[in-house]
Amino acid sequence: MAVIPLPLSPSHFYPSSHFHLRSQPSARNENNNQRDWDATDVQLSSPRPTPAHEAREFLGRTELPIMNIQRRGFLESGAVIGSALLLGGLASRAAAADSPPASTADIWDVFKRRRSVRKFKPDAVPEADIVRILDAARTPPTSGNQQPWKFLVIRDPEKIRQLKEACVERRLKQFDERKDTTTSREKFEDGVRSRLAGYFSAPVYIVVLTDNNSQYPGYNHWDGPMAAGFLTLAARALGYGTVFITDVIPDSVTKEVLRIPDRYTRVCITPLGIPVEWPDAPPKKKLEEFIPYVSL
Ligand SMILES: Cc1cc2nc3c(=O)[nH]c(=O)nc-3n(C[C@H](O)[C@H](O)[C@H](O)COP(=O)(O)O)c2cc1C
Repeated sequence: MAVIPLPLSPSHFYPSSHFHLRSQPSARNENNNQRDWDATDVQLSSPRPTPAHEAREFLGRTELPIMNIQRRGFLESGAVIGSALLLGGLASRAAAADSPPASTADIWDVFKRRRSVRKFKPDAVPEADIVRILDAARTPPTSGNQQPWKFLVIRDPEKIRQLKEACVERRLKQFDERKDTTTSREKFEDGVRSRLAGYFSAPVYIVVLTDNNSQYPGYNHWDGPMAAGFLTLAARALGYGTVFITDVIPDSVTKEVLRIPDRYTRVCITPLGIPVEWPDAPPKKKLEEFIPYVSL
């Protein structure tokens, strides 16, 4: 009796010759030719035969054994049911193969659910996630494609502590200068520390900078926030919170503590981490208020 070859493993339907992982040079590696690719750069070659298509081809070649009619009928109907189950299974496999990986959130959902987060869990952010977020942060449009950014990543807890202390000192200096008599210095300091605690609870901080020596420095003030915006969305897509910080951690404090050269202008600093909770959306204007169709 001839044996009906049944597919035993996925490789039966995905012969290795149908898969070609290729690395796409990033803007960075185009110049230096370094092998520099990650999951986002890996693509399947096209056209890609679907598993279901492969299965049909495969089953078309299947030969049933020649036997008595009953046995053959039984086997044929078994083969039909088996094929249907197989094709159904493979179709869902094909659908699964075409759907995005679990970590890729729906972009509309990301727009809707991004929030400024000001209190974080201490859980570390894996390096791969930081890289993935920054890889997205460098994708927005820029004037003349100048891409004038630097993303300074702070993970050292001692540096983060120094940043926080410098913020407290700054506020205390202002308090002293105001000669405020309505509250004691100690009480004022307690208040400052408790307000800053959440901001400094993240395991990672990213300072978004633009380079004053870029090709078109006069356009940096447009290009800079583009990256910051993309960064906040990419972080949200991976489940991390951020907040575009300007005043709470003053520019001069980041420059001083992190010894940022004058050549760079800070766009913002953002914590990056898992939120203790996702805050509710603050009140937002209605869509109609933004869109005058006729005239302003
Ligand atoms: C230019 C800019 C400066 C901001 N500065 C601060 C800041 O210093 N401290 C802070 O907590 N949030 C800051 N934010 C965050 C805003 O407060 C926040 O985006 C706004 O309240 C709306 O909330 P949402 O981001 O959750 O939609 C800033 C945002 C922008 C765009």
